[in-house]
Amino acid sequence: MMRVLIDTDPGIDDAMAIYWAAAAPEIEIAGITTVFGNVSSRIAGRNALRLLEAAGVEAPVAEGAWQPLVLPPFEPTWRIHGREGFGTVPAELPAGKVVDEAADDMLLRMTAEAPGELTLVALGPLTNVASALRRDPDFAGRLAGLVIMGGSVDAGGNITPHAEANLYHDPHAAEIVFASGAPIRMVGLDVTHQILCAASDFANIAHRSPVIGGQIQEMSLHYLKFYESVGRFDGCALHDPAAMIAAVAPDLFEWRKTPIRVVTEGEASGRTLADPACGAPPVAVAMGVDADAVRHRFIETLAMLP
Ligand code: BDR
Ligand code: CA
Repeated sequence: MMRVLIDTDPGIDDAMAIYWAAAAPEIEIAGITTVFGNVSSRIAGRNALRLLEAAGVEAPVAEGAWQPLVLPPFEPTWRIHGREGFGTVPAELPAGKVVDEAADDMLLRMTAEAPGELTLVALGPLTNVASALRRDPDFAGRLAGLVIMGGSVDAGGNITPHAEANLYHDPHAAEIVFASGAPIRMVGLDVTHQILCAASDFANIAHRSPVIGGQIQEMSLHYLKFYESVGRFDGCALHDPAAMIAAVAPDLFEWRKTPIRVVTEGEASGRTLADPACGAPPVAVAMGVDADAVRHRFIETLAMLP
């Protein structure tokens, strides 16, 4: 059983990834930390609690950064995830509360209590992860793995022509993380833009999992509409679920070992470059994927939920 910490900005595809982790027999969710990104940090914490409660998972949720390390705060991109993060699914208050511990504190404490046992799956801007590393560089060595949804080596960007959104929103944090020596697997647009889920796939999930699958289908309507608005009619990209699936099934991906340099200034800010001369330690970057197998795994696991 893999014990997983999830750092996230839920967010429609974050929700899909968290529900997937809740359903996956290989995963135990040990805790969630939240970060600004698709929504504000406060909404992210509330949304993470709602997801865990709906899935019947008991795990602590800690709120984290509300702005990037260096860049100024920004307005979330409502167009993609909706004002409250889950498209047209109504905002509801969770029954429980976030814990009285900051995200970076929780990451440091839990990995100190169980060194080498926890895999961190980072699904948003890397601000919380970088904060933990700045306070204690040994944090990197205490992780069993760090799977990052973000970046792009050959595929271009999705928020600018150069940058993927999570990297773009806090490139300085990403620079710290990629230099840290943590056991990183980067799952970026090179693969996630190949892993598409169509309306008929979400209907299949909803048919077999009427409660949670039904909610996922409703969220997907908004997400698919965004994809259609940018000319993609064959489905939406499973960005965050791909990273979660890569944590437990790395064999479905092809990995290239390379140091990653993060551009932190100018029009290419947030861009990730495979740069052997940059001085950062090599990390594993997903450059190929069996997209059908990942989509199949996504659907079949979610279909097990109520
Ligand atoms: C990433 O950006 C966010 O909008 C998604 O949740 C995902 O983590 C994709 O670029
Ligand atoms: Ca995300």
